[in-house]
Amino acid sequence: MSYFVLQFMIMKKLIRVVYCFTFLVLISCNTKEKEDTFVPEATNDSHSFSNPTEITISHIYLNFKINFDSSRIEGTSSLSLLHKKPADTLWLDTRGLDIKYVTLDSNSAKINYFLGREILFKGKALGIPVNPNVKTVHITYQTTSESVALQWLSPAQTAGKDYPFLFTQSEANLARSWVPCQDSPGVRFTYSADVSVPKNMLALMSAENPIKKNETGIYHFEMKEKIPAYLMALAVGNIEFLSTGTRTGVYSEPAMVHKAVVEFSEMDNMVKAAEALYGPYRWGRFDVIVLPPSFPFGGMENPKLTFLTPTLVVGDKSLTAVVAHELAHSWSGNLVTNATWNDFWLNEGFTVYIERRIIERMNGKDFADMQAVLGFKDLKETLDELSKTPDDTRLKQNLLNRDPDDGMTDVAYEKGYLFLRLIEETAGREKFDAFLTTYFNEHAFQSMTTEAFIHYLKTRLLNDKNGLKGKVNIDEWVYKPGIPANCPKIDSEKFSIIESKTEQFLRGTPAMDLGLQNVSTNEWLHFLDCLPSKLTPAQMVDLDSVYKFTDSGNAEILCKWLRKCVAGNYHKADETLEYFLLHTGRRKFVKPLFVELAKTPEGLVKAKEIYTKAKPNYHALLINTLEQILEKQSVKM
Ligand code: BES
Ligand code: ZN
Repeated sequence: MSYFVLQFMIMKKLIRVVYCFTFLVLISCNTKEKEDTFVPEATNDSHSFSNPTEITISHIYLNFKINFDSSRIEGTSSLSLLHKKPADTLWLDTRGLDIKYVTLDSNSAKINYFLGREILFKGKALGIPVNPNVKTVHITYQTTSESVALQWLSPAQTAGKDYPFLFTQSEANLARSWVPCQDSPGVRFTYSADVSVPKNMLALMSAENPIKKNETGIYHFEMKEKIPAYLMALAVGNIEFLSTGTRTGVYSEPAMVHKAVVEFSEMDNMVKAAEALYGPYRWGRFDVIVLPPSFPFGGMENPKLTFLTPTLVVGDKSLTAVVAHELAHSWSGNLVTNATWNDFWLNEGFTVYIERRIIERMNGKDFADMQAVLGFKDLKETLDELSKTPDDTRLKQNLLNRDPDDGMTDVAYEKGYLFLRLIEETAGREKFDAFLTTYFNEHAFQSMTTEAFIHYLKTRLLNDKNGLKGKVNIDEWVYKPGIPANCPKIDSEKFSIIESKTEQFLRGTPAMDLGLQNVSTNEWLHFLDCLPSKLTPAQMVDLDSVYKFTDSGNAEILCKWLRKCVAGNYHKADETLEYFLLHTGRRKFVKPLFVELAKTPEGLVKAKEIYTKAKPNYHALLINTLEQILEKQSVKM
């Protein structure tokens, strides 16, 4: 063999090695996580990796199969791009997704992409190289057990026991765990979807929805209004629909839907009441779905289809304020959206204010004020809990490097409410209503920062000329901890009577002689709030034998009572407590009961026992909350 041939062969081998090496590197780009890939241009949203100031997603098309056997969603998300500035990479948020491949426009060639390392509370950045001509990015993937937005329920965990169930919970930043997207509340897009589900099951989304099952098991959805990612939602199950009016209706499992329709029969009127206050409802229909009991919230304002806990269905419409709350989000939150999770009070404080205005129209001022007083009690409890971290009691939050969930306390809800009520009282209701209506119209389908709102408030309602600005003390309310001295005082005549009854009881009047038999749910709740957290065994027995709290079918009343049972060692309620914790996943109820249990060594043992049994029924969000509580207590002891 000549020298040249030998050299040529060596060269060829070398080229092949280099080629193979390059190929391997490329492959590993596809599949391996690349460390520290990325610092995007600032989006001002520390909870998102995305770069919407360079490239914005204008539409997402989802093509999904819902696989109950493997508990996975499998499919492709196609993202339409809007190039705003020259950029070579589209950065997206993902969390717990198994990405299979990525293609561009109509090319079937799989392209390289970058997956960053896992960042706490954020997941992994997905970087897709693009040029300004790329119009659509297609990502084929499947969800995993780390897809925290999804709760997969076995048939046993449903009301009907025959079919499994799936629902999503995308707020705050969990949409990325089932759809790779720009998961920031400051980014809005439209979406459409084709979702394939097993025969005899119905799929619903926060979109225009079908009202009955079809033969194919494939359902098409359109959401034509621009929404932020946290409002994307999906529910799949053996679901039926019943109408409650021209614009409203209820979806639920067959075992629940009839009761639910009676409970929520006033929804059409509620929409009208809200419109009379703040202008037209812009989302077409207002339907609700009553989910299985593991749904971790009272409600979630998914547009066109509010998600609700079944604990609202008590038979006397006493808990429908939650529906008013989710409806109120159709203006505050869904129409004008907090720009980042630091501005969460713009969503929830406004919504509590509007909720109570709707409730006032529907049920009267007495009812609304009673709810405000109950809310104030919750706020005081939260302020006590946060006494060591006073910065967390400011309306404008700083959640940098923290879980956005940490900022979602009663401060945003109830301090936010009180601030708006103060503005209403200062400016006068008529002026404030007109201000809010214009505010929603002028910023419809946009996001809002705290600073931009304050500026708008100062230019449109409260200024030095009319002398109103000085009366409100805006900066203290928004940027300082605690409750300012000019906080509105809320009185309720009915509650004053209840307060005198609790005093009588504590002074020794037997429960039987208090004359409380026919009071409303709000009054019972206030009665329980006004009693000390720990009562004597005799007092517990007396109250329970007369008022049958342990048997209450109203979860709000039962939860407050059970907290006292734990604190007061009232073991007659043990079975009910365990049953409640095993069958309800609503965080508002479950969390305080575990907190109360974990206060004593024996209680902690019991808490852990119950938690182990209940965990399969709990949503990842609740599991996260409870594990923090149980761990913290274990360390203390
Ligand atoms: N948007 C919230 C629920 C939420 C908040 C989900 C934060 C995830 C993160 C919803 O509108 C809400 O506030 N629900 C309350 C209702 C109550 C205040 C009437 C709930 O679930 O308790
Ligand atoms: Zn809300």
